[in-house]
Amino acid sequence: QSVAAILVAAGRGERAGGLTDGPKQYRRIGGRAVLAHALDIFRSHPRVGPIVVVIHADDAVLCRDALGDAADDVQIVTGGAERQISVRCGLEALAASGTLPEIVLIHDAVRPFTDPATIDRVIAAAASHGGAIPAVAIADTIKRAAAGGAIAETVPRSGLYGAQTPQGFRFAAIRDAHAAAAAGSGRTDFTDDASIAEWAGLAVMLVEGAAGNVKLTTREDILTADARLKETPP
Ligand code: C5P
Repeated sequence: QSVAAILVAAGRGERAGGLTDGPKQYRRIGGRAVLAHALDIFRSHPRVGPIVVVIHADDAVLCRDALGDAADDVQIVTGGAERQISVRCGLEALAASGTLPEIVLIHDAVRPFTDPATIDRVIAAAASHGGAIPAVAIADTIKRAAAGGAIAETVPRSGLYGAQTPQGFRFAAIRDAHAAAAAGSGRTDFTDDASIAEWAGLAVMLVEGAAGNVKLTTREDILTADARLKETPP
């Protein structure tokens, strides 16, 4: 089955310290941009064919600098104000490029430590079930906060998982789900693609993720990731 990948990198990264630091996907860890690390994993995966990188309209130069020659091997398109809009831009770019992939992997560019085995598991389960995401069981006890910071309740963590990316789907199904959600859900707050698939009634399987497949969100996450690469050079 043909597999394409979309890396969404059009966010502004406000939580990592705002515009003074720049978007976190362009911050350097181990001497290279976070996005470049993430892209390498997909470019070197034998099952992955076409790759679309979705960036912010202001970031063309940043992206070129981050990717260097690797930029020539990918299609770079402009995203939108919400993650789900950026993903849709990537899906439509793949559709417009001619041969439709059977499976598409959608990945947050701010997860530079995903691994080939996780990608394999997602592809296999997406091919058999239509959709699959890597996930890790929640280890912490989960509290819901009340106004003022007190605990309102303890949420039973049994059966709860943290969702990671890449998330894999049959291309036609997730493209239709995104289009339907844009037209009919009235929502722009979907934080991943599985939630759009769920909204559309598609089955999505959980497969084993990896504890190391972290999402770099804060400035501290960037520093930790940089230190991690210094300890174990690629
Ligand atoms: O904002 P959040 O942490 O959910 O971002 C996850 C991923 O989605 C990041 O890689 C970010 O660059 C991307 N994104 C995007 N377009 C947006 C918002 C986020 O491509 N409008």
